Amino acid sequence: MIKRPIHLSHDFLAEVLDDNSIAVDATMGKGNDTAFLAGLAKKVYAFDVQKEALEKTGERLEGLDISNAQLILDGHENVDQYVTEPIRAAIFNLGYLPTADKSIITKPDTTLLAIEKILERLEVGGRLAVMIYYGHEGGDMEKDAVLDYVSKLDQKSFTAMIYQPLNQINTPPFLVMVEKLS
Ligand SMILES: C[S@@+](CC[C@H](N)C(=O)[O-])C[C@H]1O[C@@H](n2cnc3c(N)ncnc32)[C@H](O)[C@@H]1O
Repeated sequence: MIKRPIHLSHDFLAEVLDDNSIAVDATMGKGNDTAFLAGLAKKVYAFDVQKEALEKTGERLEGLDISNAQLILDGHENVDQYVTEPIRAAIFNLGYLPTADKSIITKPDTTLLAIEKILERLEVGGRLAVMIYYGHEGGDMEKDAVLDYVSKLDQKSFTAMIYQPLNQINTPPFLVMVEKLS
């Protein structure tokens, strides 16, 4: 069966991860991506602004016996204050966490700042995956801001791709993929 965008996001990052790599989960939520990245990388830095996300993810990682993830209660826009090593792979799942406070959503300004900081620190050959959920209020603006930013990246330094359902009703999430070339 054809891959859903969320599955492709994991495959895309898995291709460049190994046990020497540093990975970033910019939007931890319940820790789906944190657990996935931690299984492949040396260390994962995971960010969320909700204490509940850290609690849920902490429990999940403990259950899986995963201990190479640092859970950070802070916005991803401050990624440079925590991650000093070169980054091999990073992921964002934009929007809100369906099972938590739906008013806590990612915002265009902080999302772009975090993407910019992560791309600066990405290793050559490193990759960024951004899952864009935009059905909520403000989601359209954030989608446009990310697409605009990524579309303007210098093609000598980055390759940027999109993977999006075309004939699905409502506002199905889609994936933006970036790879650093130089
Ligand atoms: C769509 S959810 C992420 C889902 C997650 N990947 C998972 O596996 O459950 C988006 C998350 O981003 C978080 N968030 C919102 N603004 C943020 C920010 N500035 N920095 C880091 N996380 C943020 C929200 O609290 C929410 O948990």
